Amino acid sequence: MTEPEQSVYEMVGGDATFKKLVDAFYRRVEADEVLRPMFPESLEEGKYWQYLFLAQFFGGPAQYIAERGHPRLRMRHQPFVIDQEGRNHWFTHMCEAIDEVGIQEPARSIMRDYFERGSTFMINAESGSTNLMQWQNRSKDQSS
Ligand code: HEM
Repeated sequence: MTEPEQSVYEMVGGDATFKKLVDAFYRRVEADEVLRPMFPESLEEGKYWQYLFLAQFFGGPAQYIAERGHPRLRMRHQPFVIDQEGRNHWFTHMCEAIDEVGIQEPARSIMRDYFERGSTFMINAESGSTNLMQWQNRSKDQSS
């Protein structure tokens, strides 16, 4: 008989690890000039949903769907201008967060693969769009 397969959630140590991962990731977002303007002023609510979603996605309790409904992630990301550059920043921060938290193989590669494909899937704007958006915001600030 084969052993039941362990989920990534179990491999990495459950809830506490996902909380740490999201903290490590958001610390990087907060210091990122490209991504920070895209996120709302308070990062707390986003952090909570991110944590619940990832814990559920990787095999933990289905708490995100219970509290928030179907993820529909691409739709939830439509309000943000996500180009290749923004996506690359996002993905780099997530990979660094995985390593900061000390997630080991094979979970490390499974998570990296998902984030690599998932972040590409979230792209909804042509290259250069993030810069354009920031330029527009700056012009608005200056004219007011
Ligand atoms: C695998 C890739 C990704 C996953 C799994 C993911 C997951 C999530 C989740 C679960 C949320 C919260 C949704 C909710 O409100 O319930 C969220 C919000 C958000 N995501 Fe992503 N995301 C990904 C890629 C990206 C990328 C590439 C960007 C931008 C470069 C991005 C920017 C944002 C922003 C700005 C928010 C809103 C935060 C807030 O309202 O506080 N995401 N994401």
